[in-house]
Amino acid sequence: MEKILYPSILSANFCNLEKDLKELKDNKIKKIHIDVMDGNFVPNITFGAGQISCLRKISDLYFDCHLMVDEPIRFIDDFVKSGVDSLTVHVEACKHIHRTLEYIKTKNIDCGVALNPGTSIKDIENILDLVDKILIMTVNPGFGGQKFIYSMVDKIKDLQELIYKKGLKNKQIQVDGGINLDTINEVYDIGIRDIVVGSYIFLNKDISNNISRLIDKIR
Ligand code: DX5
Ligand code: ZN
Repeated sequence: MEKILYPSILSANFCNLEKDLKELKDNKIKKIHIDVMDGNFVPNITFGAGQISCLRKISDLYFDCHLMVDEPIRFIDDFVKSGVDSLTVHVEACKHIHRTLEYIKTKNIDCGVALNPGTSIKDIENILDLVDKILIMTVNPGFGGQKFIYSMVDKIKDLQELIYKKGLKNKQIQVDGGINLDTINEVYDIGIRDIVVGSYIFLNKDISNNISRLIDKIR
């Protein structure tokens, strides 16, 4: 079950990420979610490739990197060099989404496309075959600790249907934003097995117990 959760280190202790990463690993977490924000695509600034390179030196966890960056194609090489295992770009941030995804795929890492709450799944219909994962934002990107947008549950179901109709295999649907004890079943119960959780996991610095509580809720 721990394999399902992707803790977002956006809400971790930036003064001691090493300690938090160790605690995540001790709790059988395999993959972490790293939110890169450029202050332009979203109104917040977080990590760059340099910081991720440092984390790579101290952690062998899978790095799932969510780029909330305008024209991310400019930085793909840098992030690949930093040691990420997966890069997800926003369809709204790319002038040429097909080109951007094809470029990521040349790097032999996992490749994802993200959609803001206001973006229709129609916008990714023509590139679905290119990606390993589709990240459905269940909050507007930019900050941790926001409220889950319930209308996204129907959008996720529509996407599941679209993937099925197209006969596509091995497409992960990842959900990001507002997941906590009250909302995790909204997505788990419809079959979502890639769930990003930020603020809830790091709440009160009680990482181990918060992970257990989430796992108990979906067991
Ligand atoms: C928001 C980020 C999320 C964020 C989720 O833009 O993409 O990954 O960390 O945080 P919570 O779980 O607090 O909504
Ligand atoms: Zn994210």
